Amino acid sequence: MASSLRFDGRVVLVTGAGGGLGKAYALAFAERGASVVVNDLGGDIKGDGKSSSAADKVVEEIRAKGGKAVANYDSVEAGEKLVQTALDAFGRIDIVINNAGILRDRSFARTSDADWDIIHKVHLRGSFLVTRAAWNHMKNQKFGRIIMTSSAAGIYGNFGQANYSAAKLGLVGLSNTLALEGVKYNVHCNSIAPTAGSRLTQTVMPQDLVDALKPEYVAPLVLWLCHESCQENGSLFEVGAGWIGKLRWERTLGAIIRRQNRPMTTEAVRDEWAKICDFDNATKPQTIQESTGTLYEVLSSIDSDKGLSMNPTSQQTSSSTTIDPAQAIGKKLPSTVYQYNYVQPILYALGVGMSTRDPDHLKFLFEASENFSCLPTFGVILAQAAFMGGGLASVPGLNIDFTRVLHGEQYLELYKPIPTSGEMHSEGIVADILDKGSGAVILLDVNTYCGKELICYNQFSVFVVGAGGFGGKRSSSKTKATANPPNRPPDVVASDVTSVDQAALYRLSGDWNPLHIEPSFAAMGGFERPILHGLCSFGFSARHVLKHFANNDVTKFKAIKVRFAKPVLPGQTLQTEMWKEGNRIHLQSKVKETGEIAIAGAYVDLTSTVNSLESKAAVQDTGLQSNLVFEEISRRIKDVGSELVKKVNAVFQWDITKDGKTAAQWTIDLKNGSGEVYRGNVRGRADTSFTLSDEDFMDLVLGKLNPQKAFFAGKLKVKGNIMLSQKLEVILKDYAKL
Ligand code: NAI
Repeated sequence: MASSLRFDGRVVLVTGAGGGLGKAYALAFAERGASVVVNDLGGDIKGDGKSSSAADKVVEEIRAKGGKAVANYDSVEAGEKLVQTALDAFGRIDIVINNAGILRDRSFARTSDADWDIIHKVHLRGSFLVTRAAWNHMKNQKFGRIIMTSSAAGIYGNFGQANYSAAKLGLVGLSNTLALEGVKYNVHCNSIAPTAGSRLTQTVMPQDLVDALKPEYVAPLVLWLCHESCQENGSLFEVGAGWIGKLRWERTLGAIIRRQNRPMTTEAVRDEWAKICDFDNATKPQTIQESTGTLYEVLSSIDSDKGLSMNPTSQQTSSSTTIDPAQAIGKKLPSTVYQYNYVQPILYALGVGMSTRDPDHLKFLFEASENFSCLPTFGVILAQAAFMGGGLASVPGLNIDFTRVLHGEQYLELYKPIPTSGEMHSEGIVADILDKGSGAVILLDVNTYCGKELICYNQFSVFVVGAGGFGGKRSSSKTKATANPPNRPPDVVASDVTSVDQAALYRLSGDWNPLHIEPSFAAMGGFERPILHGLCSFGFSARHVLKHFANNDVTKFKAIKVRFAKPVLPGQTLQTEMWKEGNRIHLQSKVKETGEIAIAGAYVDLTSTVNSLESKAAVQDTGLQSNLVFEEISRRIKDVGSELVKKVNAVFQWDITKDGKTAAQWTIDLKNGSGEVYRGNVRGRADTSFTLSDEDFMDLVLGKLNPQKAFFAGKLKVKGNIMLSQKLEVILKDYAKL
């Protein structure tokens, strides 16, 4: 069993610990080794009167069990005195649980000044004064844990508790800011909204519920949040009856009402009301920067007359924003030339976090090392000039604001390992343009050649914020689709800490956008500080796959696809989670510190070298050649499945025989979802079933055996809709590609 969580040497102050929840916390902390200050004024539930007996009894109980505790009888309004008791008795203060509380419930109309003030004094002001008294001690010792006690009445409102609700939600605001101010001193602050039977709830709950909802069911959360190993900070939890849940804010996408040619009017607000309140695709802003970032975007989109960015249903009215897909699609970008020697690949490798610390990185960092190689993802550097050098601006029909262009997705396919020096030229073309409502997606296909030899193909998928609504299509068969990882824990997880200068280093490979280095520019975009290039995180993720699944052998790398989901800040830790599915390694990369997914829906395809190794294993497993074909079809279908489902719309089952017996079953489903190939019997109903031997199957796909002849010769048995088998021929011919 994992070790138990202890508080030896820690000094805890629990306010209002003479009964109810506070008492449960005090006992639990003492039991786990903490020295506890048991504070309680000892008044009644309305805050009248005082007595020392409540606190004394709890101190006695702790001492009787061998624990350490002292009493304090001051009101929390005398914050300094409470903390002084801790310092006098135990010499320090580590943890403050702001728990003391009273009630003055009244309907709002009958709430007097006194009812309002006393509730605020005890709950909000009391928590402020006690916490402020402890704050500098915690900061100086670089450790502190603080709990604010909120309430469901504050979060949701409760009849007759206007005073109490206001103070209780005020505590959450206080906690949110302390969490930000304290974090760099390892001082954390969280809020809880508990439910427990106590003398406070006795008046509103039936006795059996009061008995059932034990304060002891709340205490473990409070202790965990206060443990030195818990990194939770600035959060709010509801807790009671043995259940704990976390809360957060959610915000609708909203609507931009004001436009350059339309004033902000009350009627326009009314007309957009449904949209303002529509929680579909809602966001969950976590910081004030994320929240205000939207306002910057809105201002600049209105300035540039793209006030439609958040408003997919509106029509484009601006004459300056024009995307004319008919003109732009298929247009070539000016060719670019990229000349390099060993310096650029090395600089790039450093830019994506390679280090001489790792001996197996040397072949990417030292030009004279044996097998000096270029990282496969350097392929994006060869091609990026095609659109970074203003290439897009030259395309007719694309009149867009280039400050609003975001890199959405990236696909890179290599046809041979990238030479370590050379002169490459790239040819770009606008492959397609999609209208996503809130913006436009431009698919840019770039082929890069060394002389006449095709080295790699990139698809840059760029999102132009606010440029949607031009009436274009929403999806395209040209899109290199992302793929979700399998529904199981990752097979391999690799982490790398990015350096604070990672973006400063990466930009030397040619992406000079000031967003990645200039703080004020980053602030305009709503970022706390300059962010890492998406393609830099992409490089980290790809080399994690290369190391763990291809032994850093660049010849095994075939293709990579990623979607950039969230920005990464230089200095954060990138954690790549990987799943192996045949030759495809699915991956997603998280920012370890926040748990947010930065790269999503991603995969790396490795080449036939790995393929053949695995395939040998597959053949040995069952001795069947056909397994290789089905695996290959499976891989291909992952790319073009949706397209095929539209075309074919059928489920095929295969019984492959060996020595006259069924040796394997495979299903090719091109009817459901975006298509799937799987081993085993069909899940549901097959439209057509085939039975044939492994050898005949191979002859068939290699074109040595004619299907009609095989059928008439009895080698191929077909059940169900025989006409559909013609459609299958197309798949075998076009997608098996063996
Ligand atoms: P309780 O009445 O059993 O405990 C509160 C304690 O605070 C009492 O012992 C009281 O003497 C003490 N106290 C009151 N004013 C004080 C002051 N000025 N200085 C020092 N001590 C003072 O109530 P319970 O239920 O244990 O409540 C603890 C906290 O949890 C309170 O802040 C309450 O508002 C909050 N809460 C409780 C819920 C519940 O279901 N029990 C629901 C939501 C919030």
